[in-house]
Amino acid sequence: MENRKPWWILVGGRQRLGRFLAERWAPERNLVLTSSRPWEGEADWLGAMSRTTEVRTLCWNAEDPCLVTRMAADMAALAEEGISFGNALVASSTFPMASLGSWTPESLEATWRMNLSFPFLVAQALAPRMTEGGCLQFLLDTAIHRPWLKRLPYSAAKSGLASLVPGLAQVLAPRVRVVGHAIGVVMADEGSDPAFLASRSLLKRLGVPEDLDRAIRYAADSPYLTGEIMTLDGGRRWV
Ligand SMILES: NC(=O)c1ccc[n+]([C@@H]2O[C@H](COP(=O)([O-])OP(=O)(O)OC[C@H]3O[C@@H](n4cnc5c(N)ncnc54)[C@H](OP(=O)(O)O)[C@@H]3O)[C@@H](O)[C@H]2O)c1
Repeated sequence: MENRKPWWILVGGRQRLGRFLAERWAPERNLVLTSSRPWEGEADWLGAMSRTTEVRTLCWNAEDPCLVTRMAADMAALAEEGISFGNALVASSTFPMASLGSWTPESLEATWRMNLSFPFLVAQALAPRMTEGGCLQFLLDTAIHRPWLKRLPYSAAKSGLASLVPGLAQVLAPRVRVVGHAIGVVMADEGSDPAFLASRSLLKRLGVPEDLDRAIRYAADSPYLTGEIMTLDGGRRWV
């Protein structure tokens, strides 16, 4: 039988939240996944996924000087196959920690490039390949409300991205919708203290990736929603 599933793209779909979401979405959607590195060593889970779904993998690295040309070529190749996207999620990021006084122009540049320039360039590349009414979604951080003090450049980059959400929504309307998710901890980093993080929220718990999945599906399925940032942080911003 012909596969008529919609295509979704997940930028940063190889590990952690990206992989979790890819595996959740695969039964109902065809997927394009990107990583900053060649996809060697991932055959097991990609193979399992491609038994039920069509999967394409791309290599998009924020540090690649040819990134814009590469993304354009990949989009053109997908267009040749007739692939366009009903939903796109930009999940890639880095989360560098350093105290004030130790940042250098290079480390700042790298933080802006990964967390702000890269998502913007991705949006530029994806917008023409979104279907009518499709949704372009960004993963932000509850740090847009209360910055992580040891991660100020990351927090500032996410705030910059937050201001792009209504801006892109206006530029791309009415064809494409744009939504951001300001999330609290839904998958803790190694070495973090989950009990402490949970105590810093109204609901006294961490989030789980399923919470995020639900919010992304809600945005994808809400044709009257655009230009909004949804905060999903168990009330961390109010503590
Ligand atoms: N985890 C949480 O609880 C949490 C909380 C708040 C916000 N967020 C946001 O949610 C998103 C996903 O978070 P996460 O914790 O799953 O992931 P993450 O570890 O912060 O990074 C996501 C992906 O970024 C990609 N990446 C790293 N360097 C790159 C580069 N040079 N070029 C292109 N891509 C690069 C990596 O994929 P590859 O190695 O495959 O390239 C990585 O899987 C992020 O935007 C994060 O800020 C997460």
